[in-house]
Amino acid sequence: MTFDRRVKIAPSILSADFADFGREIRAIEDQGGDWVHVDVMDGHFVPNLTFGPPAVKAFRRHVTTVMDVHLMIAPVDPYIDAYAEAGADILTAHVEAGPHTHRTLQAIRAAGMKAGVALNPGTPAEAVEHLLDLADLVCVMTVNPGFGGQSFLDLTGKIRRLREMIGDREVHIEIDGGVDTRTAPLVVGAGADVLVAGSAVFRGGSVDKAHVYGENIRAIRAAAEG
Ligand code: DX5
Ligand code: ZN
Repeated sequence: MTFDRRVKIAPSILSADFADFGREIRAIEDQGGDWVHVDVMDGHFVPNLTFGPPAVKAFRRHVTTVMDVHLMIAPVDPYIDAYAEAGADILTAHVEAGPHTHRTLQAIRAAGMKAGVALNPGTPAEAVEHLLDLADLVCVMTVNPGFGGQSFLDLTGKIRRLREMIGDREVHIEIDGGVDTRTAPLVVGAGADVLVAGSAVFRGGSVDKAHVYGENIRAIRAAAEG
């Protein structure tokens, strides 16, 4: 994975048909999605439960782009090797998930993956200040994690602050939650380059109407770049 500063759209399969992940993943990639965003929830760190390493490993067989795995679990460390084995390209842990995010990011890289660190809406940018040399991505949550389809929280000040703190390091800023054609330009203007979108990509489409995914992805990208 080479570092690319252009805007990337990462459809979240949290909004896909859970009985048909293989075809859904192929559809969003065919329709122009840059990364596949996979939301892992444990019913403990967040009040919702999705899937674990065996499911993520099965998704991998269908992903030809980048598998971007967002862990909303605590603890993280006991599962890092399982997600490496499942084929995650990027593994993101929440800074709120435990006291030793520094060690967690080191372990993710040591397992051969890119390391991401995510911040809940209430967590300040400064929480990751001393982690930036260990991170390949900072994920700014613009909703409280746990569910798709929530309304966007305007944290553009935090995104700007992070972009300043990152300086010339090769660290992506990913925005997760409520990204659509209205909010994409705000966050890209503030310095984000990866846009996770669940409902705004899957809305109105299906594997049999995959062109709608394509229209939605192109509309978000055009808004972000315009
Ligand atoms: C929320 C997840 C998101 C979610 C975004 O906890 O991390 O990735 O799928 O969904 P939308 O784009 O619908 O807000
Ligand atoms: Zn996510």
